[in-house]
Amino acid sequence: ALPRDLEGRRVVISAGGTREALDPVRYLGNRSSGKQGYALARVAAQRGADVTLVAGHTADLADPAGARVVRVGSALELRDAMHTESRDADVVVMAAAVADFRPVELAASKIKKGDRDPEAIRLAVNPDILVELVKARSAGQVVVGFAAETGDEAGDVLHHGRAKLARKGVDLLVVNAVGDGLAFEQEDNAGWLLTAEGDEHPIPHGSKSQLAATVWDAVVPLLGT
Ligand code: PMT
Repeated sequence: ALPRDLEGRRVVISAGGTREALDPVRYLGNRSSGKQGYALARVAAQRGADVTLVAGHTADLADPAGARVVRVGSALELRDAMHTESRDADVVVMAAAVADFRPVELAASKIKKGDRDPEAIRLAVNPDILVELVKARSAGQVVVGFAAETGDEAGDVLHHGRAKLARKGVDLLVVNAVGDGLAFEQEDNAGWLLTAEGDEHPIPHGSKSQLAATVWDAVVPLLGT
């Protein structure tokens, strides 16, 4: 049986990818399926947590048993939902793949061939939601980030991960190697778990549920009484 070590804890988890609309039918998006975030939600609920899952675009996944699911589309919607939901949370986990840019203009009707110069889509930078959540966090709240890194060697991926942990100010950062058919859309995952104290634990290749359990094992000791 799983430990009930998240009993009485409120956790908020983001999952999936955001979609940034160009016109009524087109968007900029990414390959996140939501599987990792859903696994985090499922395992947290099994361990007794009160779970809110903020889901962007995902594959066709069943709602995790016991979790409340809030659906969002764009990065700005995800941001609003995360700020609202995380206010009284004990743990906040950002497993969503958030678009770093959004089109400046949303065309009111479908963009037609010849309507405009195809190179003229202007982009604006989206806010870094994780950095905002760290700034806004309540006393004792634990904040966990994910990092999708491409690199030629483990060393590159870890190096980027460490810099990202410091920049974002999170307590824990899960670094996934991505690209070449890794992590995104897959049933399994692997990587490293970095802590603010400078510890670095390899996470062996396994199911996304196993990785989720490793994350919760690392979160529990950081929770106050
Ligand atoms: O969904 P799956 O198919 O299961 O795949 C899982 C996953 C690979 C998407 C997931 O495990 C993962 O790594 N998610 C984070 C991917 C990502 O966006 O990495 P990043 O390095 O761009 O962002 C770092 C962190 O900042 C993440 O916690 C992200 O949620 C957050 N972020 C990023 C940009 C932004 N504007 N706001 C954010 O909050």
